[in-house]
Amino acid sequence: MKSVITGTGIGVPKNVVPNDRLARIMDTSDEWIRTRSGVEERRYLDPGQGSAELGMMAAQAALDAAGKTPADIDAVVFATMTPNFYFPGNGPILQAKMGFPETIPTFDIRQQCSGFLYGLELADTLIQSRKYRRLLLVGADAHTPLLPWHKGWDTTIGLSDREVTPEEYAFNTSIRDRAVLFGDGAGAMVIEGSENGARGFIASKLFTDGSNIEALYMRGGSQRRPWVTPDNVESGDIIPDMQGREVFKQAVSRMPEAVRAVCEANGVAVNDVDVLIIHQANLRIVEAVAKQLALPPEKVPHNIERYGNTTAGTLPILFHECLSDGRIKPGMLVCFTALGSGLHWGAALYRV
Ligand code: ACO
Repeated sequence: MKSVITGTGIGVPKNVVPNDRLARIMDTSDEWIRTRSGVEERRYLDPGQGSAELGMMAAQAALDAAGKTPADIDAVVFATMTPNFYFPGNGPILQAKMGFPETIPTFDIRQQCSGFLYGLELADTLIQSRKYRRLLLVGADAHTPLLPWHKGWDTTIGLSDREVTPEEYAFNTSIRDRAVLFGDGAGAMVIEGSENGARGFIASKLFTDGSNIEALYMRGGSQRRPWVTPDNVESGDIIPDMQGREVFKQAVSRMPEAVRAVCEANGVAVNDVDVLIIHQANLRIVEAVAKQLALPPEKVPHNIERYGNTTAGTLPILFHECLSDGRIKPGMLVCFTALGSGLHWGAALYRV
């Protein structure tokens, strides 16, 4: 039995925010953002929408591409670190709004930037168990709500044209290392069990190292009394913390290690990989990993310039775009790899 991707789709917001619009509300520049991260523009959701709405857009497109309806699906796996509500997760929202039968389970998982990679492993394992035959896997994140929306961020999507105050400008500048990197977006896949041999998931290797959670995390949660205070919001204490250089260092060593490990365990050479679908956190990370693996640029596509880092959305959005424009073709060997907060990381092999 092999787990085969039979439909893909994406969901991205309509509001395109180029680097110049961020430069209006903080001390940054298009040049700095492009050269240090590769991001040229990202998309921000309208107020009132969250990762579930993006996930539903992607899920509907993936179901259409597979020629299926919610009634054909045996389980839903939804990966996000930014669910619409603190609880429950996005699974039940999809179930009710898209009309999945109430007889199927919906699994909500996190794992941040590795969320979709972990979701692939979970989906494959559920199918291998033979209890579930056809799954919907969704990866979606909405970073917009993590930004200080009351400090002039509404100007970035044209909701307001007011100039920010010097205090707001200084505050926004204090989070500029993170604020310029992220965007909102989602991708989804229908994954089915098939006895038909060659195509499908081959294997994955997943890793966790929680010894330095502070490298990339968001404070708040059940340790606090109460969960969140007005002061937490005002001081920016609920904006994610990131030690950029440390995460960068981990990303450029851990992802190549994981790719080599999964290739070696499955008797393929790294050079046999036709397309590396790598998490889109920074173009310099993408290029450094490609170089370490001696993979030429044509095997390592990227789209960070258009979306920024969409966390659980990056792998399925990139896979969908490459499949749609023919960069991924039947028979090719694809390797997925990602690293994110936790740290969680890993790699997975898939024959198209
Ligand atoms: N605009 C202008 N200047 C900036 C900006 C900005 N947006 N951000 C930082 N700078 C400044 C800094 O203040 C610093 O100035 P200084 O030298 O006067 O102190 C200077 O630029 C250099 O800062 P560095 O942090 O050394 O810049 P670096 O080249 O490391 O790039 C970056 C920073 C882009 C954050 C990089 O470290 C990175 O991409 N790290 C990995 C991020 C990542 O992968 N995150 C994963 C998130 S995934 C998840 O799980 C949610």
